[in-house]
Amino acid sequence: MALEIRRSVVADAPAARRLGEEAFGSPAARQPEPEARRWPSANVRPWSAHDGAELVAALGVRRFTSWFHGAAVPTAGFAGVTVAAEHRGEGVLGPLFAAALTEAREQGEVVSTLYPSAAGIYRGLGYEVIGSYDEVQLPMSALATVRPPSGEVRARRANPADVEAIRAVYGSWAARQNGPLTREEKPFTAQPEEMFGPDAAYTGVSLAVGPGDEVLGFASWTRGAGYDRTGALEVDDLVALTPDAARALWRVLGSFTAVAGSVRLSTSGGWTGSDPSRLVLPDHTATTTSRPYMLRLLDVAGALGAAHLPPVSAQVPFAVVDPRTPDIEGAWTIVVDDGVAHVRPDAPPAPGAGPERLTFTSAGLALSYAGAASTANLRLAGLVWGPATHDRLWDALWHGRDVHVRDYF
Ligand SMILES: CC(C)(COP(=O)(O)OP(=O)(O)OC[C@H]1O[C@@H](n2cnc3c(N)ncnc32)[C@H](O)[C@@H]1OP(=O)(O)O)[C@@H](O)C(=O)NCCC(=O)NCCS
Repeated sequence: MALEIRRSVVADAPAARRLGEEAFGSPAARQPEPEARRWPSANVRPWSAHDGAELVAALGVRRFTSWFHGAAVPTAGFAGVTVAAEHRGEGVLGPLFAAALTEAREQGEVVSTLYPSAAGIYRGLGYEVIGSYDEVQLPMSALATVRPPSGEVRARRANPADVEAIRAVYGSWAARQNGPLTREEKPFTAQPEEMFGPDAAYTGVSLAVGPGDEVLGFASWTRGAGYDRTGALEVDDLVALTPDAARALWRVLGSFTAVAGSVRLSTSGGWTGSDPSRLVLPDHTATTTSRPYMLRLLDVAGALGAAHLPPVSAQVPFAVVDPRTPDIEGAWTIVVDDGVAHVRPDAPPAPGAGPERLTFTSAGLALSYAGAASTANLRLAGLVWGPATHDRLWDALWHGRDVHVRDYF
């Protein structure tokens, strides 16, 4: 097979869409052919692989910005990865990803993320599962005993004038986590018409506000049909900056107990670290479905060097050795000066030299950078090796934040 890998053009779009529909399930209604002026969708860089006239694989890359260690990090989000059924197992995925990742690096993206249909597909490409986007179903009975917030905090319905305050609450929460998108890029920019008005995606957006009407939290929810208590209230976001704000919002949702059986909350933290707004719930009853989220670094010095680390001074030599991801192999020393990180490249270890420094695989570095696994456990998994001298210091630098993601792509 003579494989040609390139950015897709509009003439490739129908075949790419057929491939996607076949892989992920067809939409109920037949879609019109894409129009040149509306293709590709906003913020998508489409790539495809071709064998002569046949399109044999496709994917899309979206430029996002994610929060990691208090820094807004340029991120290449991969989605819609498909190889034609007759060409699976022929090794098309590797060169297709290599081309799209090279472009991502050229665009200044320092990490790449994706939601896998199976994690094993992407491990060979250097990605590892660092967290999950979760759907948590809570029976209304679990919300019945949520204590009222203090008299200072109350709930009220949001209106279009609150959009900036809602964005600010999300931003304040997101900046404290590792992983969430900043929501500065399409399709996650939370436009007023998506929240309010006849075409709104939600039945309502509720706010928790303080004594001066300052917004301390929000919940965007969709009521669904029927009132026989078999239905669920769908909650797209519930973000609270104080426990009283969380209580106020949970009580709004719980007030539907006579007409809905449960709340289905889109959240994160099922795999690593709790959603803080759930810590106020007195009843833990819930069922969770998780969509794992994978990370790979594209620029080691760029990603680690942007981090706002704990206010310590430290110096740790480290390396990445992973024949599957030669693009990020190398040796560096991270110098931390009162929390400010500098990552300077060192001469690569001589071939055959023993590991004289803390050494990661691509997956090991992704897990460690995200704060999702300790070096002790990464050693057990074979993703870190070399002297253990700096293990606890390394963990202290990278383990201060929980992994959360709240947008599916
Ligand atoms: C997933 C898909 C893109 C993989 O393409 P492919 O040509 O079969 O992939 P390859 O044979 O080159 O395998 C690449 C790697 O994925 C692994 N892999 C393939 N299918 C897998 C599966 N279902 N579960 C776990 N790992 C899998 C292979 O073992 C291989 O791992 P390695 O690199 O460590 O050896 C293709 O099977 C497909 O289009 N499936 C349907 C749509 C889909 O699931 N897309 C992914 C959306 S996130």
